[in-house]
Amino acid sequence: MNVLVTGGAGYIGSQVVRHLLEQEHEVVVFDKSPGNKISSEAKFITGDLSDKTLLETVFKEHHFEAVIHFAGSIEAGESMKNPSAFFQNNVVNGINLLEAMVKHKVTKIIFSSSAAVYKPKDGPLHEYDTLAPENFYGETKLKFERLLHWYNRIHGIKFVSLRYFNASGAAFGMGEKHDPETHLIPLILQAAFGQKDHIKVFGSNYPTPDGTCVRDYIHILDLAQVHLLALEKITEIPQIYNVGTGKGHSVQEIIEIAEEVTGRKISVVDASPREGDPSFLVADPSKIEKAWGWKARYNIKDIIQSAWEFHKNS
Ligand SMILES: NC(=O)c1ccc[n+]([C@@H]2O[C@H](COP(=O)([O-])OP(=O)(O)OC[C@H]3O[C@@H](n4cnc5c(N)ncnc54)[C@H](O)[C@@H]3O)[C@@H](O)[C@H]2O)c1
Repeated sequence: MNVLVTGGAGYIGSQVVRHLLEQEHEVVVFDKSPGNKISSEAKFITGDLSDKTLLETVFKEHHFEAVIHFAGSIEAGESMKNPSAFFQNNVVNGINLLEAMVKHKVTKIIFSSSAAVYKPKDGPLHEYDTLAPENFYGETKLKFERLLHWYNRIHGIKFVSLRYFNASGAAFGMGEKHDPETHLIPLILQAAFGQKDHIKVFGSNYPTPDGTCVRDYIHILDLAQVHLLALEKITEIPQIYNVGTGKGHSVQEIIEIAEEVTGRKISVVDASPREGDPSFLVADPSKIEKAWGWKARYNIKDIIQSAWEFHKNS
């Protein structure tokens, strides 16, 4: 397939690009920054989704059969300070992409949604659970999912929306390096490596067994596999799935596993809880298991081990 990957130089996108090329898809990456090195077999276009003229040229020049849409603003805390920038990038720029698809008759899109669309609860989240984001980032993901429903109905755009839980781990020399880095595992490993004195734990009085936030961590290789499957399984009927392991791990637990994997002591400093940070976010992945037979293969130790190897070598 000839696939456009927006945000394909980012953490998740670059891993998916590698897997697409391995399966002999043709890939065009559209990203506003160079990010991770991607294989020279993929064409790289530096551009911003706000640039409708460039999008028009790119769609005119390539006859895409599908789009995988990773590009977006991702930091939930930042979205609570600057909601309009998040709306612009995750919703308005997303509409530019959808309009280009409609105009050029590209009818398939796979979207990077998020667990942040849900009203958090103390148990695993099903796709039919209440959609009520705790932060504006989640709101923009939900808005774009709703847009996809309407573009499906009005223009026949087929879509799969994948609600990732916490993407993590590394593979093939590519790992997590956000700028600024706000994700837990890379921050912990920076502390283990001596690049930081300590790790800040934001809130230790949450209603969880050890008082720290619980999340569901999904290995980047599991995520990559889901995207390849989505390209095969996309149909006229909209599909929305959780992508997680179904197992939650607290911040405290992650620190302990990281100490075990790295063999190093990690200093911890207690900090205030962050606005919009839910106490518990864990997937019920049974819908995608039933529909596609997909199940996560990697556990939290594999994730931290792979992230540590990446961190030591980068
Ligand atoms: N990392 C996670 O745990 C996680 C969880 C749930 C959902 N997601 C979603 O998955 C997607 C990818 O996340 P990631 O962790 O790889 O993030 P990332 O920041 O590493 O990658 C995003 C990429 O998109 C590009 N981008 C952003 N806005 C753009 C624009 N307007 N035009 C062109 N390029 C643009 C960035 O340059 C970057 O390379 C995002 O949509 C994110 O919301 C991520």
